[in-house]
Amino acid sequence: MALWGGRFQGAASEQFNAFNNSLPIDYRLAQQDIEGSIAWSVALQTVGVLTQTEQQTIADALTQLSSKVNQDPSALLQSDAEDIHSWVEMKLIEAVGDLGKKLHTGRSRNDQVATDLKLWCKQTIEHILSSIEIAIQALLVVAEREYATVLPGYTHLQRAQPVTFGHWCMAYVEMLERDASRLKDCQKRLNTCPLGCGALAGTAYLMDRTALAQSLGFDSPALNSLDAVSDRDHVIEMASAASIGMAHLSRMAEDLIFYNSGEAGFIEMSDTVTSGSSLMPQKKNPDACELIRGKSARVFGALTTLLTMMKGLPLAYNKDMQEDKEAIFDAMDTWIACLDMTTLVIEGIKVHASKTKLAAQQGYSNATELADYLVAKGVPFREAHHIVGQAVLQAIEHSLPLESLSLNEFKALHPAIEDDVYQSLSLEASLNIRNNLGGAAPAQVKQAVAAKWQSHLPSKKGD
Ligand code: ARG
Repeated sequence: MALWGGRFQGAASEQFNAFNNSLPIDYRLAQQDIEGSIAWSVALQTVGVLTQTEQQTIADALTQLSSKVNQDPSALLQSDAEDIHSWVEMKLIEAVGDLGKKLHTGRSRNDQVATDLKLWCKQTIEHILSSIEIAIQALLVVAEREYATVLPGYTHLQRAQPVTFGHWCMAYVEMLERDASRLKDCQKRLNTCPLGCGALAGTAYLMDRTALAQSLGFDSPALNSLDAVSDRDHVIEMASAASIGMAHLSRMAEDLIFYNSGEAGFIEMSDTVTSGSSLMPQKKNPDACELIRGKSARVFGALTTLLTMMKGLPLAYNKDMQEDKEAIFDAMDTWIACLDMTTLVIEGIKVHASKTKLAAQQGYSNATELADYLVAKGVPFREAHHIVGQAVLQAIEHSLPLESLSLNEFKALHPAIEDDVYQSLSLEASLNIRNNLGGAAPAQVKQAVAAKWQSHLPSKKGD
């Protein structure tokens, strides 16, 4: 039976019920709804709506319901209840009889769903933070192992300057750390409790809302009832953090797909995260990375859904807002799955150091070094840049690397060039020279990894 039948003379159509009911989606809020209901029963007792014995009976029945749901969370999908709030109330009434009908006193599904969803957001943020942390640790392990493995660095997907594979890993550690900090920031703002705001105008039962908020683990009560029941900022913020996070995972996936290609051959992905072709036996496809890249689309889609859903809604609650759950549940499920898959991919990477080195040696990525060499000999940089351009052109004509020009050829380009030029054109020299904070020199990468381990010790998983 619906919670609101009294003022109706006719029944809703089957078609409308199927359209309106949200249980198939919001059943996932069962535990949060039960938790919120127990807290509400305590609040009702403090204002004399429930006796202590009644409150205890209700809380006991709800606790039992919670463990039943825990055993089989999807069993409740068999019910034709309108939504998770109706389902929990129905089950309570089944268990304790008419007493259960007192629980909804002074409460509305509007403050209830807002509270349930915030509780879910808080728990989900913890889950994502721990997945991010585990991905960071996987990257740090590879960064530590490959801190000195030369990798061609690219701009415009053209070989630009050498970096190391460890340095590449550490770039994504930075991104993942920012993703975690965005979530923590969102967590601060969502920490106010809507319960006790009623349908929109507040509750007529004068309980201590601060105590109620704290009993549910919130920092404080939400301060305006109209806002509290219709605020979904936190859902949008999470989807936004997820979108930026997925953009990072997608870029990482794209880098790896390229590194893994036959053309580059820089890495080999583990058999655990690749698949074969039904037709071409030689193939080993980077499906995991392609799916991560592809799934970023649905997370961006969720953000657009949520922003568009909220825009233009008059205060306070509107049924449009029921659409928030499908979007945020899917976005967060997707983000978690992609983070965990990224960890698996990273853990299984084999780097082919001879190939990465060979590629870094090609492509004239030491051209900047020759310019810097000339600068050190007193040639202004702009002039040096031009001279090196000519040197590169000459080398390209012979299909040879820069360092294969003879000293006479170099001297013809600029008389200041001496025999020591060859030393500064070596791969090692061009890497080692970038030994300032944030640079790609192996010594610098090694230090960066050690510094990160300080805040990402394996024992701190999930911090
Ligand atoms: N299923 C609803 C939702 O997710 C719960 C709130 C319903 N409130 C109402 N006044 N009909 O938004």
